[in-house]
Amino acid sequence: MQTPATQPQSEQTKALLGFDGSARRIAENSRWIAGGVNSNFRLNISPTPLVFERGEGAYLFDIDGNRLIDYYLGMGPMILGHKPAALVEAVKTQIDKGILFAGQTEVEARAARLVCELVPCAERIRFGSSGSEVDQAALRLARAATGRSKVIKFEGHYHGWFDNVLWSTAPALDAAGPVDAPLAVAGSNGQLPQSADDLVILPWNDLEAVIRRLGQGDIAAVIMEAAMCNAGAIHPLPGYLEGVREACTRAGTVLIFDEVITGFRLGAGGAQQRFGVTPDLATFGKAIANGFPVAAIAGRADLLDQFAKGGVVHGGTYNSQPIAMAATAATLRALTPDLFAGIERQGGKLMEGMREALASAGVTAAVTGFPSIFHVAFGIDKPARNYRELARSNKPAYIAFTTALLQRGVRALERGAWFMSAAHNDAVIEETLWAVRRAVADLKARGVV
Ligand SMILES: Cc1ncc(COP(=O)(O)O)c(C=O)c1O
Repeated sequence: MQTPATQPQSEQTKALLGFDGSARRIAENSRWIAGGVNSNFRLNISPTPLVFERGEGAYLFDIDGNRLIDYYLGMGPMILGHKPAALVEAVKTQIDKGILFAGQTEVEARAARLVCELVPCAERIRFGSSGSEVDQAALRLARAATGRSKVIKFEGHYHGWFDNVLWSTAPALDAAGPVDAPLAVAGSNGQLPQSADDLVILPWNDLEAVIRRLGQGDIAAVIMEAAMCNAGAIHPLPGYLEGVREACTRAGTVLIFDEVITGFRLGAGGAQQRFGVTPDLATFGKAIANGFPVAAIAGRADLLDQFAKGGVVHGGTYNSQPIAMAATAATLRALTPDLFAGIERQGGKLMEGMREALASAGVTAAVTGFPSIFHVAFGIDKPARNYRELARSNKPAYIAFTTALLQRGVRALERGAWFMSAAHNDAVIEETLWAVRRAVADLKARGVV
């Protein structure tokens, strides 16, 4: 194995990082916080959920004194990296003016205008606080506009944690039913069983299946991640988005792109700009405000204006919270073509380096997706096209890999996603690839891969 020139020899033998302080604190905090964490997606992380002190650029610093290169990036939002100076300045300026007014501000108008300038479908916008709630707003608008109630949702796609959409997001294969007619599988105990009554679950990337079902004329909306990024980082097949767009128009069905991950990450105009297909509505969150709790629904004026004069309700105490709006405007202003070119270049280098490291160690793996969000799966050798193909990957071995990476100072999601930011420079990528090679050698030595 080659040692990168920038990596001092002594680093090869440096001690593995420990996380005992985090483990202890999670156990203590569990007396007050259920499970010691405030989202189920932070539970059951190997070797322990972590407790952090601060973040800076591409790095996080935990309470054990470890410096970790961060590829969680807050689960996607931190497109500019941790604590970018211009955003911090904008937030400090805004906080000096006050916190919450239950009224309108200049800064929210600036942020709204920026979204409308950047996003192809965005004739109008409303802000919210989480991706989950703006997805609900999108479904309500579609139902109000069409007078229909049924919604097509795809297996493996995630649209938030509410009852009516938390179906078949990551179903066990033995419960998921036939490939071409997936069953609706609940994602949580306590979910209303009848909340799936108006859902039609289809396999993604199968155009004929959508055309066939839309032909019945009773579908209010098709909602999808235009590139499937909650399971894998899967490209739409050539012609798929265009075909769905056309079929929705023909059927009078509202096409919703859930761009909570892809928005302001696959480019300033999101997946819709990258693939050149414009939905009727799109939802955003995460990278829109680089870590502040902001989400948005944007799209056709006639659909959004139902909030103003169509009797459709959309509320939220914290919608367009001024400090979060200052963060939004500062983030969107930073999303220049140069910034995305840099992220694409660095992400491309990391993807290529990972492919080389895994192949030269003889590990069967697929590194797929986009430079700004890619996915690594063990045990499959070609890109998955849908949830069923991805589900054949070797997840336990991959979790052993992310655990080994963490011990070597790199924090990557156990589900295989790698988020990139503008702060991931050459030195960060080199250090990451060093850790990847060491982690793979460790897994090989232990017979995990
Ligand atoms: C595609 C997609 N939609 C919706 C959501 C829900 O967003 P939030 O966690 O902000 O409620 C997520 C969250 O990961 C997501 O990835």
